[in-house]
Amino acid sequence: MRIGVFADVHANLEALEAVLGILRQQGVTHFACCGDIVGYGPDPGRCCDIICQLRCPVVAGNHDYGVLGRTRVADFNPDAAAALRWTREQLTEDRLLLLDGLPLTTVRKPLLLVHGSPSAPEQWEYIFTVREAEEEMRHFSEDICIVGHTHYPFAVAKPAGQPAQLIRAQSFQLAPGVKYLVNAGSVGQPRDGDPRACGLVLDTTNRTITFFRVPYDVARVQRKIIAAGLPESLAARLAVGR
Ligand SMILES: [Fe+2]
Repeated sequence: MRIGVFADVHANLEALEAVLGILRQQGVTHFACCGDIVGYGPDPGRCCDIICQLRCPVVAGNHDYGVLGRTRVADFNPDAAAALRWTREQLTEDRLLLLDGLPLTTVRKPLLLVHGSPSAPEQWEYIFTVREAEEEMRHFSEDICIVGHTHYPFAVAKPAGQPAQLIRAQSFQLAPGVKYLVNAGSVGQPRDGDPRACGLVLDTTNRTITFFRVPYDVARVQRKIIAAGLPESLAARLAVGR
């Protein structure tokens, strides 16, 4: 089975469609989403509907709960907060209920899905370093935890009794007795300097994880952001992936 895992769509419809297109081309039949469907981008409703139609496991991100007031809007930077207020006005009651029903974590063996950190999913902490990843690995028992939130793809492996190590390969084999903490990167607002949409494929038969990048029509999304009256900085950053 091939599972397409993605995170941080952030209401970027063009990026989401590009990701789902490439995943289906690659024979992916199952999906999982690590949160932040909405926030920042101009198409929150359509992105909610498409992800709902996938009927896949989805966990909540801080922006998904922020729209609902379940995470304080004051905790977001001014541009993010402005986008959250705008997003709230765009979403129908059905879509707000969908976001409200998202759990903080979900398990689909061999995966644990969480947006921020397995140790404290409700605190939206960021995992940036191998050391932070290693500490987080003490807080889950599944073989693989996939997170989002930082918008930086990475993978860290920890063989039993050995220190955790960063995996630098784009594709890697899952070894028995090794625990993995993986960030799926961001579909709709990458911040690692590569503006292409990001995600990964878990192949449970071959026991591999493979990251991918896919280009999409950034200029079209930028025009929509400006036309919606969202902060212009949210459009500009898409072109550079920062
Ligand atoms: Fe995010």
